Amino acid sequence: MMVKKKILLTMAGAVISIAAQAADAPAGKVDLVGRGAPQVDTLPDDHYGRLVRYGQELSTRTFAYIGPEVKQKSMRYAGNNLACTSCHQDGATKPYGMPWVGVAATFPQYRGREDAVSTVEDRVNGCMERSMNGRALPPDSREMRAYVAYMSFLSRGIPVGAQVSGMGIPASKMPNRRADLAAGGKVYEEKCAACHGANGAGLRKGKAGDAQGYVFPPLWGPDTFNNGAGMNRLIMATRFVKHNMPQGTNHASPALSDDEAYDVSAYMLSKPRPIKTGLEKDFPARWNKPIDAAFPPYVHGATADQHRYGPFPPLAEEARKRAAMQKSVDEARRLLDERRQQQQE
Ligand code: HEC
Ligand code: HEC
Repeated sequence: MMVKKKILLTMAGAVISIAAQAADAPAGKVDLVGRGAPQVDTLPDDHYGRLVRYGQELSTRTFAYIGPEVKQKSMRYAGNNLACTSCHQDGATKPYGMPWVGVAATFPQYRGREDAVSTVEDRVNGCMERSMNGRALPPDSREMRAYVAYMSFLSRGIPVGAQVSGMGIPASKMPNRRADLAAGGKVYEEKCAACHGANGAGLRKGKAGDAQGYVFPPLWGPDTFNNGAGMNRLIMATRFVKHNMPQGTNHASPALSDDEAYDVSAYMLSKPRPIKTGLEKDFPARWNKPIDAAFPPYVHGATADQHRYGPFPPLAEEARKRAAMQKSVDEARRLLDERRQQQQE
C-alpha cells in the first residue's frame, strides 16, 4: 500500500512539474521566411493525400468548385469568382502574404470580431462570407474537411502554440493624415491598372459564366470581396498592398512607399463593392473593434470618414487607452471575485 501510494505521489509530482515546465517554457519559435512549405506532390494517392490535394485545388481554383458559376447550384457557396489564393498568394504559402502555414498551430484562438474563441473552420467561413462574399460551408462537408486538411498539412512541423513569424502581413507606417484619393488614383493608373483594369474589374480567364475565374482578380465592382471583409479595412489593405503588390513584390522589397500604398488602397476602397448586411453585430466587445472597421457603430468618438480614410494614429492612441482601461476593469473584477470566494471559504 505504502509503496503504491508513494509511486502515485511521485507520478503526480512528475506530471505537475512537466505541466509547469510546459507553462513556463517559451513556446517554440518558427520563422517562415526561407523555410519552404511542404509539397502536396510528396503525398501518396490515398484518402489523406486526395483530401489535401482537393484542399489545394479548392484554394487555387475556388471558382471552379464552389463559385457562383458552377453548374450544380447547391455547390455555389462563394458569391464571387475570386480564389482564396487571390489574396493568400502562392497557394497560401507566401511568408507575410497571410499564409496558412502555421494556421493549424495557432487555432483555436480568440478573435475580436466574434469576441469568442474561433476554430479554424469558423475562420474559413469568415473569409467565405466576406472575402468570397458567399455563405458558410457546412462544417462536415468534404470541402471544409479539405480546407482544414490542406491547412494542417501546410502546418506540418510547426508545434501547437508556437510563435510563428511570417504569418499575417507585416505592419507598416500609417501616414498621419487623411488618405488622398486623387493621389491614390494616379498611383492606381501607373502601377495597378495594367493588370487590374482601369475600371478595377480585373481580367477574366475565359468569359462570364464559365467558372474559370480570373488572370487578374477584380478589386471592386460586383465580383469581389464585400464591405465586411478584412481587405475592406484601410490599414489591412495598405499593409497587404505594400508588401504584396504589384504582383511579384514581397515583404523584403516593397515597391510602393507607405504613402503610395495608403493612398492607392484608399482609392480602391472608395469604389463600390458588394454589401454585407448585419455588420453592426461584428465585434460585440466594442472596445476591441479595429479602428479601420469602416461600418457603424463607431465607438471611438470619431467620424465615419476618419474610420474609413484616416488619419489613424490618433485613433490608434485612443484604442490603446481603451484597451488599457478594459484591462484594469477586468483585473479589478478578477480581484473582487477572488475576495468573494475567500469570504465564502
Ligand atoms: C479578398 C482577399 C481574401 C480572400 C479572397 C480570402 N481571404 Fe482569407 N484572409 C484575408 C485577410 C485580409 C485575412 C486576415 C484577416 C485578419 O487578420 O483579420 C485572412 C485570413 C484568413 C485566415 C487566417 C489566417 C491566419 O494567419 O490566422 C484563414 C484560415 C483564411 N483567411 C482562409 C481563407 C479561405 C479558406 C479563403 C477562400 C475560401 C480565403 N481565406 C479567401 C483575405 C482574403
Ligand atoms: C502584374 C500584374 C499586377 C499588378 C501590376 C498589380 N496586381 Fe494586384 N494582383 C495581381 C494578381 C495576379 C493577383 C492575385 C494573386 C496572385 O495570383 O498572386 C492580385 C491580387 C490583388 C489583390 C487581392 C485580390 C483582390 O482581387 O482583391 C489586391 C487588393 C491587389 N491585387 C491590389 C493591387 C494594387 C493596389 C496594385 C497597384 C499598386 C496591384 N494590385 C498591382 C496582379 C497584379
